[in-house]
This record gives sequence, structure tokens and C-alpha cells, in this order.
Amino acid sequence: MVRVLFLCLGNICRSPMAEAVFRQMVRERGLQNEIEIDSAGLGDWHVGDKPHRGTREILDRYKIPYDSIYSRQITSKDLADFTYIVAMDEDNIEGLSRVGKTPSARVFRLLDLVDEAQEKNVPDPYFTGNFDEVYRLVRVGCERLLQKIIAHHALSQNSGN
Ligand code: 4NP
Repeated sequence: MVRVLFLCLGNICRSPMAEAVFRQMVRERGLQNEIEIDSAGLGDWHVGDKPHRGTREILDRYKIPYDSIYSRQITSKDLADFTYIVAMDEDNIEGLSRVGKTPSARVFRLLDLVDEAQEKNVPDPYFTGNFDEVYRLVRVGCERLLQKIIAHHALSQNSGN
């Protein structure tokens, strides 16, 4: 089992969007029994909250389910439990280093996987208000992440449904 944790600051805008998008992508490839997906935030301000309205609007628009997603704060146990911790920006990586030590190969930014991306941080829509931009970046990042996991862990895709 490969375990993926998406990480952002508040766990209501970017990482829940990535969790929902990646979950749907993995299900479409029939890989839901091989890849486990979750998200968390560095802060505790929104613990227990559902995703931000802007994120819900995007997910509703693209018919991507998010019913099971509620904000939680990352714990040091997560560092041992997850195969990959996929951060939205550089500040998240810095914040993570204060939670505990994790081998660096298992921690990266989502857009580090997107060679053509000039900017490797997913801008925080809590402050920019631009959730469409986040969706575009999350979508391409999640596609590359799935390719990486399929190749690296030698998973074979099923038809899914
Ligand atoms: P996120 O956005 O990290 O993408 O979930 C934020 C949400 C809430 C806050 C900051 C960023 N906040 O300061 O409450």
C-alpha cells in the first residue's frame, strides 16, 4: 500500500482539493486498493471544518466528491505512517520540519513534479481568492504524482469504474 498525505497550512483550501482530485483520479484508474489518500494542515484553526466554500464550489463544478473530508492537523505519527508527504508550498515544508524528521525523498512540493512549472508553490487561495488557479495546478500536479507512483511502485492500472 502506498500512502499519500497532502499538506497545506489550514487544510481547508489547497490540500483538501488535492485529496479530492487525486482520490477521483486513483479511483478512475482502479488503484483505490493500492493507494491510500489523506490531507492535513500545519495549523489547528479549522480542525473539524469541511473544505472552504471556494474549494467546495470548484469540486461541485467538476463533480468531484468531498463528503468525507474534514480539516485535521498533521501529527508526528503521520511522518512515519505516510509514504509521501506532498506539500503545497515551501512554507509547508519548513513548517513540517518543526513537526519532526522525515527522509527528504518522501517530502516534496506537488509542483516539484511538474517540470514545466516555473513557480513551484501553489498560491494560497485563502489570501488570493483564486481557486480556479489552484484547481489547474492541483490537477496537473496530481497527474504527475500518479504517474510517478505507478512507475516507482510498479502498479498496474485496472479499468476502474
Ligand atoms: P490552505 O489555506 O492552507 O490552502 O487550507 C489556508 C486556510 C486557512 C488559513 C490559511 C491558509 N488560515 O490562516 O486560517
